[in-house]
Amino acid sequence: MKPSPHLALALDVSSAKHALQLVEQTADSVAVYKIGMQLFYAEGPALVRQIKAAGRQVFLDLKLHDIPNTVASALRSVAPLGVDYLTLHASGGPAMMQAAAAAAGPVRLLAVTVLTSMEQNQLAAVGLQCSTEKQVLRLARLAQKSAISGLVCSPLEAAMLRRELGDSAFLVCPGIRPSGSDKADQKRIATPQQALANGANLLVVGRPIHQSDDPRQAARRIAEELL
Ligand code: C5P
Repeated sequence: MKPSPHLALALDVSSAKHALQLVEQTADSVAVYKIGMQLFYAEGPALVRQIKAAGRQVFLDLKLHDIPNTVASALRSVAPLGVDYLTLHASGGPAMMQAAAAAAGPVRLLAVTVLTSMEQNQLAAVGLQCSTEKQVLRLARLAQKSAISGLVCSPLEAAMLRRELGDSAFLVCPGIRPSGSDKADQKRIATPQQALANGANLLVVGRPIHQSDDPRQAARRIAEELL
């Protein structure tokens, strides 16, 4: 089978050795590999270069959130690695996002709206009294106005964003759980098929693949569901 262009594997492991083993095991079904804070802080840019050298796409999930100059400088550091996607928090505001967009070059920026582990009570605790949906839409619109069309959202909000924003948005959804798998700390979840039907472009799947007894088969099953 061909790697699914809709599937990103979250390499949430602590060593390059384990990560590269997962890349090798899932090469026939996964197109994009997500390196998050755990792995990047442990293994650094060398691992990004190795995965790129293997001809795979890299999604660097550093969820940047800082003053505009610092975020733009971070982008200038990661762009030469050939990173394909990079995340930043939309809640960093329009000045931060505009500075990032101006420095991004070929890196595709993805603005995180509301983390999929957040629910209403968590939003209220940080002073946001509106519904999760409203906050997601507000941040998505802000990202688009700041020249960022890639958005990270829950698969349950993807349909609303697709409806509100049309085809211009590139929707990336974590919180994907094949039916029967463990939810763990994710709250706003959907199956791979539901997420795609809701308008998601790229699905981020972690534990259902890398914690499976057979990551190769687990990734294949999800990729097949996305055909
Ligand atoms: O293991 P699981 O499939 O829950 O992994 C989801 C991945 O997506 C994790 O790497 C997590 O950091 C990331 N993520 C998320 N929610 C967001 C953005 C990214 O869960 N809003």
